[in-house]
Amino acid sequence: RETAIGIDIGGTFTKFGLSDVEGNILMEGSIPTYTHKEIKPFLDALSQAIQENLDKLNEPIEIMGIGIGAPNGNYYKGTIEYAPNLHWKGIVPFIEMFREYFDLPMVLTNDANAAAIGEKVFGGAKDMNDFIVITLGTGLGSGLVTRGKLIYGHDGLAGELGHTNVYPDGRECNCGKRGCLETYASASGIKRTVFKLLATNNVETPLRSYTYESLTAKKITEMALEGDPIALEAYEYTSDILGLKLADAAAVTSPEAIFLFGGLAKAGDILIEATKKSFNEYLYPGYKGKIEIRLSDLMDKNAAVLGASALVWSEIAHNEGIR
Ligand code: BGC
Ligand code: NA
Ligand code: ZN
Repeated sequence: RETAIGIDIGGTFTKFGLSDVEGNILMEGSIPTYTHKEIKPFLDALSQAIQENLDKLNEPIEIMGIGIGAPNGNYYKGTIEYAPNLHWKGIVPFIEMFREYFDLPMVLTNDANAAAIGEKVFGGAKDMNDFIVITLGTGLGSGLVTRGKLIYGHDGLAGELGHTNVYPDGRECNCGKRGCLETYASASGIKRTVFKLLATNNVETPLRSYTYESLTAKKITEMALEGDPIALEAYEYTSDILGLKLADAAAVTSPEAIFLFGGLAKAGDILIEATKKSFNEYLYPGYKGKIEIRLSDLMDKNAAVLGASALVWSEIAHNEGIR
């Protein structure tokens, strides 16, 4: 059967999977990204892990290609460019390097763009031509689809809502600027907010027993779901800022829906309801009631891996659909 390999490079982990054209996952796995300071050892480890998993399959398969979603991935060039949340500096010629490992057609795009393709092909955006997918992980990623096509811009790097500004003199961002949205609304952003809240009040919470290194966004999400006041306040602060910037994004592309995806979105209604409230407060009145904010349909699946493999179907195998 025809299959495609999808790879989702993240700041912390890199996930991969093999799927068929219906989105059935035949194998999947992951390796840590952050432990590989250099690109070459990372590619060694990734290709080895993929090969080991392929070797375990006991049915004949045909691999049509490899789709890759990466932070700061350039679809036009197959490169990863100045990624603030990866160790690899400058411009990494990813596809050129990865070809040394697999003799297969390859296509690369931004990780959030891959999630948007996944949402369109396998998720809640099936019947939509205009929508935005926001990924809330180590950074904040955005895939903007208008009239059925992803926005790529003149250089292949369009759709960087994570680095639009919230406060001119705000928090320092890994990109070198200050006040970027992802310093507030992301896994690292909410952690910064929790520590700020802990430092400025005396509320009793088990969160006080964590160091900056030991606290994870996952833990904050769990605590919020259990009703911890600081975790909930951190979510509220995050959602307020996210809603504000989503209202800006809505004014640019007029989407039918905005899908939230990634670790922070696992808080479900806690994130969605507060984000909606703020979104509606800042939204241009002409759009009121027309734009849905909802969770990704692929929360428990792997949207970006699926999207990256869907890119193979559309670009390489069948040359159709969203790209
Ligand atoms: C990068 C984006 C990426 C996002 C999520 C941001 O810091 O600039 O390209 O989509 O993180 O990984
Ligand atoms: Na993008
Ligand atoms: Zn930034």
